[in-house]
Amino acid sequence: MHRIAVIPGDGIGPEVIEQGLRALSEVSRKFNLLLEFTQFPWGAEHYLKTGKPLPEDGLKQISDFEAVYVGAIGDPRVQTGVLERAIIGGLRWDLDLYVNLRPMKLYHEQHCPLKKIGPSDLDILVVRENTEDLYTGPSGFIKKYTEDEVAFGTAFYTRKGVERIIRYAFDQARKRRKKLTLCDKANAVQAHEIWRRVFSFVGQEYPDVTQETIYVDACAMALVRKPQQFDVIVTTNLFGDILTDLGSELCGGVGLAPSGNIHPGKFGFFEPIHGSAPKYAGKKKANPLGAILAGSMMLQYLGEEKGAQAIESAVTELLGTGKLKTLGTESEISTDQIGDLVLDALS
Ligand code: IPM
Ligand code: MG
Repeated sequence: MHRIAVIPGDGIGPEVIEQGLRALSEVSRKFNLLLEFTQFPWGAEHYLKTGKPLPEDGLKQISDFEAVYVGAIGDPRVQTGVLERAIIGGLRWDLDLYVNLRPMKLYHEQHCPLKKIGPSDLDILVVRENTEDLYTGPSGFIKKYTEDEVAFGTAFYTRKGVERIIRYAFDQARKRRKKLTLCDKANAVQAHEIWRRVFSFVGQEYPDVTQETIYVDACAMALVRKPQQFDVIVTTNLFGDILTDLGSELCGGVGLAPSGNIHPGKFGFFEPIHGSAPKYAGKKKANPLGAILAGSMMLQYLGEEKGAQAIESAVTELLGTGKLKTLGTESEISTDQIGDLVLDALS
């Protein structure tokens, strides 16, 4: 039995998670998986009622589960960043979920905004460091709200943090097309030298993996110009955030992209990479495929290979055969209808 916590969250979160749970229930019926879901109503409503995004011992409650499945967090009624940092940040940083796995996979050429790029050209796994960098470094304000105001944030990288994520990325590359690209900004950011040094140090253990380095600005360009050159990309927290929005758009849109936040052997948190998109909340315009694929990643993490594969195949059937032409919020097909199509493909 797998015990899974569910945080539907804000905006379009609940409606995409609903479809994700339908797909998960269908595969658990089909493959006799025992999945038990426990919902936690955290996010904006909880904050507006109690003054806290989640209860004091919330993260402790969550860490008693095997994994958590999250919709989206963020609401215009609450100051930007308060909910996101407490819930998404809290889970990632306090539970030390140091791997952020973000597959960027094109299922059909009609969904790619680039010319003459098909599924065999664009299948990239971004391995984003998830606990350090500008996100968690010392930051603050001096003389806030005065004309002498200073705002500061610090990017930092620990030897342990850099080494473990690079090692994880090499292991992933070994299971794929055996190429790993380190994306940094070592030509301008002095601290990034540690990434280069650790990359070549760890790289000695992986002579079978082709190793390249690229600066993040060139990487953004290369993703658009020649995505074929990438297999696995390992990068810093901030760069990984930005590059995966770009990469997911190349695959049909941010609504399609799943994400796993993992501490191998310890805990996993799975979510679509998109945000809460408040203006579409309740309109059933959001694409639930990112959430549904995040469910597949969660099953993979739980060791339920068959179930994971079934969901991925259902999405491949839906997208790969070109049945689903439009994917964005402009699409005529509703959130629930896309969920129905996935269920049809599953059965
Ligand atoms: C993401 C999001 C988060 C991030 C925000 C909501 C804190 O953009 O998961 O990509 O920056 O990591
Ligand atoms: Mg992001």
